[in-house]
Amino acid sequence: MSHRYSVVVLPGDGIGPELTAAAVAVLEAVQKTADFSLALDWHMAGAAVYRDTGRAMSDDTLAACRAAQATLKGPVGHPDVRGPDGTEAGVLGGILRPALDAYANVRPIRLYPGVTSALANRTAGSIDYVVVRENTEGLYASRGRGFVTADVALDTMVMTRQGCERVARRAFTLCRMRDGAPDDRRRRVTCVDKANVLRGFAFFREAFLGVAKEFPDVEAECLYADATAARLVQDPGHFDVLVMENFLGDILSDLGGGTIGGLGMCPSGNIGDRAAYFEPIHGSAPDIAGKDRANPISMILTAAMMLDWLGESATGSRIRAAVHAALGEGAVRIRPDGALVDGTRAAARAVVERLG
Ligand code: IPM
Ligand code: MN
Repeated sequence: MSHRYSVVVLPGDGIGPELTAAAVAVLEAVQKTADFSLALDWHMAGAAVYRDTGRAMSDDTLAACRAAQATLKGPVGHPDVRGPDGTEAGVLGGILRPALDAYANVRPIRLYPGVTSALANRTAGSIDYVVVRENTEGLYASRGRGFVTADVALDTMVMTRQGCERVARRAFTLCRMRDGAPDDRRRRVTCVDKANVLRGFAFFREAFLGVAKEFPDVEAECLYADATAARLVQDPGHFDVLVMENFLGDILSDLGGGTIGGLGMCPSGNIGDRAAYFEPIHGSAPDIAGKDRANPISMILTAAMMLDWLGESATGSRIRAAVHAALGEGAVRIRPDGALVDGTRAAARAVVERLG
């Protein structure tokens, strides 16, 4: 039987629409030989919508994201579009993550062939880990709620038992589906925190260790976030799955992106128990928007993650294999600084041509 999946598409701002076009071209190509199809429902949301309407996303669009089986979202935001409190107003994480209860932001960091890592002597596959970022609480729970006077500013970090346990469980479950860390092929989940300094992080760690007992087949380790930052640079092959608080995950996943050819190589899924949306981890890069220069690999790999979530991981893997081939053969070239050598459209075509 052929499935038809309902997918909301939010092309976003800046480079978002051209990246979305690239990912949709790949999705259309794979559907030709797959036994499922996607019903795409396009909506506008983000900084431009905020500028026009005073809200980054309409109620209708949010309802559509809730009702769909998945949402594919391009990067959003513009540095000049600010809310009354001075923070960026066009971003959607603060809306979609709580609304869909998408509590795990799954961010794979993988070095593909043909891509020069910023780290010396790194070959394809020698960096291959997943950052699981808690997505609904932590320090960013203070989003839109910080307390500021002329003399003091306060943002509060929130950890709940349920929030810590469910994201830890997601990390262990994901780890079981992988082949272990590149260096020793051991399945390992690393809890990243500052349990030595803040009680909230000690609470996160304790919840993690409790959940770890449910997964005796997976190695559980704890590492301080500062030491983790160094180790992700010096010894990335040690890592398999890392789980951490929201703000730490935001930062350390970008650090990881810096080691695999830049943020333009980084997809992600914001995943809850019932709903999910998928987006690259980077911003909307307004400086290169509309110039056919942005690297679409992040968004193409994001589309593949969406197919995994829909239960079509064989097709997701076909996309990843095509990306692997396109980069490995030099049909898509990434400069050491992360810039794409060929155009966005040409890169998408190169991937489409290699879909097995
Ligand atoms: C991300 C982004 C956003 C976030 C910002 C733009 C609000 O940094 O998704 O990584 O952290 O939520
Ligand atoms: Mn970020």
